[in-house]
Amino acid sequence: MAAPGWPAVLYDSRTGVLLRPYRRRDARAWSQCRMANEAWLSVWEPTPSRGTWAELNSPAAFRVIYRDLRKSAAAGTAMPFAICLREPGSKQDRLVGQLTLGNIVRRAFCSAYAGYWVDQAVAGRGIMPTALALAVDHAFTAGGLHRIEVNIRPENGPSRRVVEKLGFREESYHARYLHIDGAWRDHVGYAITTEDVQAEGGLMARWNRVRDGQVTV
Ligand SMILES: CC(C)(COP(=O)(O)OP(=O)(O)OC[C@H]1O[C@@H](n2cnc3c(N)ncnc32)[C@H](O)[C@@H]1OP(=O)(O)O)[C@@H](O)C(=O)NCCC(=O)NCCS
Repeated sequence: MAAPGWPAVLYDSRTGVLLRPYRRRDARAWSQCRMANEAWLSVWEPTPSRGTWAELNSPAAFRVIYRDLRKSAAAGTAMPFAICLREPGSKQDRLVGQLTLGNIVRRAFCSAYAGYWVDQAVAGRGIMPTALALAVDHAFTAGGLHRIEVNIRPENGPSRRVVEKLGFREESYHARYLHIDGAWRDHVGYAITTEDVQAEGGLMARWNRVRDGQVTV
């Protein structure tokens, strides 16, 4: 049986941001992007249990990650989206990041955690808030979820701006929460629920109002 809301392809024509499942043939583009972004990404990522950045981000490593992500998605515990840019009318897309709704728990919780990164070369263009808004709206409709959480290191200003611009609520402070870049790091917990976005007509609707300058954030 297919997992609710998966597979899915989501698109914002205004920016060309496209979310889609990874393909096996993304290996080379994924590896090139990750290799070019070691300094940009490694400080925010889980401490690797073994291997160098080059080993952990090779095309061969991608094939293992791809298999694991597909398995989680099929089991309904994750929605792992490749973030791409695609010109309107084009069939070509360029891989520029990843957004995963993971640790999906259903029953009385119906919740997921979002994790994400984007290529430094395209940072600051609103790609991640667009991607997160698309994914949250999808998760709250076809995906049948009620709540999305994002946990962010206090010093990660750009990531905090992403959720703050989308109206996520700052709810908690988790001391020594995740092992990131070699140590247990504190995290600030943000969350949003269906009730919050229903009131706004969906999260993309809110984000469009922010982009149009109708809402100041
Ligand atoms: C966090 C991240 C995903 C944001 O993605 P994005 O698509 O750049 O998001 P935005 O365009 O909305 O920019 C967010 C903030 O980044 C900052 N920013 C703007 N241009 C930037 C640039 N060229 N380089 C770095 N940061 C920039 C600004 O503070 C911006 O907030 P503002 O819109 O209020 O000015 C991205 O910075 C990233 O991948 N960082 C490394 C990995 C990471 O931190 N992942 C999240 C872990 S919780």
